[in-house]
Amino acid sequence: MKHRNRNRWLHAGLVLCATLVLTFLAKHYEFPDIQINHVEEITIPGVEGEYEFLFLTDLHLAVKTKEDLGPLGNADVRIAGFSNPQGTVSAKQLPQWISYANQEQVDAVLMGGDMLDYYSDANAVYLKEQMDRLTMPYLFTLGNHDLFSPWEEAVPAESALYELCKGGNTAFQILEYEDFVICAIDNESYQVNEASLAVMKEWLNEHPDKPMILLAHVPFYTEQIEGLKETSIRVWGQPIIIGEGARDTTAVTREFMELVFGAESPVVAVFTGDNHFYYKGNLTDSIPQWVIDPSFAGNGTMIRVRGN
Ligand SMILES: [Fe+2]
Repeated sequence: MKHRNRNRWLHAGLVLCATLVLTFLAKHYEFPDIQINHVEEITIPGVEGEYEFLFLTDLHLAVKTKEDLGPLGNADVRIAGFSNPQGTVSAKQLPQWISYANQEQVDAVLMGGDMLDYYSDANAVYLKEQMDRLTMPYLFTLGNHDLFSPWEEAVPAESALYELCKGGNTAFQILEYEDFVICAIDNESYQVNEASLAVMKEWLNEHPDKPMILLAHVPFYTEQIEGLKETSIRVWGQPIIIGEGARDTTAVTREFMELVFGAESPVVAVFTGDNHFYYKGNLTDSIPQWVIDPSFAGNGTMIRVRGN
């Protein structure tokens, strides 16, 4: 009898292993150029069930329309620089992320900025067309590269880039759920935008206790996250982070940071990018900040939110 039970367990174990291996191979075959390289868990007391968000940042995609990218050099060389280890350029990776998000039915796709390597109509339209395939909401945070034109062209007000932002508003976008919100603000200029501060103030006045996950392109700096400053300087020669003690800070940036990282803040987590490396540290005793490594390398982050 004991012998038969052991065989049954062995058989069940083998079936489970085979299923796991087949699932892995099927996914790898379907999405050969992308992978989830981080799973980040956020606990928010009172949240019912579990939420999953796909976070992408710094994809730096480009659709070639001209040979000469001005200060960015030759288009072929530049585009090839934003490839995954297999050599697949970022514009070809994006459709796989869209299909992956639709297949996994994540609750939303969150983007941390620099989805485009530079602004061109072709780049913005391509990104918008891909986003339109999603079967769930998304939040598009503006990065410094998204607005940068190598040919010094102004981004027209009717650009597809602004259509990616909720309500065409780059300063403050929000996804609301029953027990928390996700908010994207504009700090692509390496300062917090005045409009972001104004709307954030309004929001927090009306919803002082609603837990918030904050998205921004450029990471924030407080003395508590000194290691991030050191790493940023080591990689870039200067701190690519925002806050007093890191770089010049405007009164608006200072006020914004005092508000959202203050003792009364409902912010529970901050997700950023821009630095092209991974770093997790605490901005305050209760607010962790993630700096996520770039998606052009084929990487994406799954953010799981649940109650305790
Ligand atoms: Fe970037």
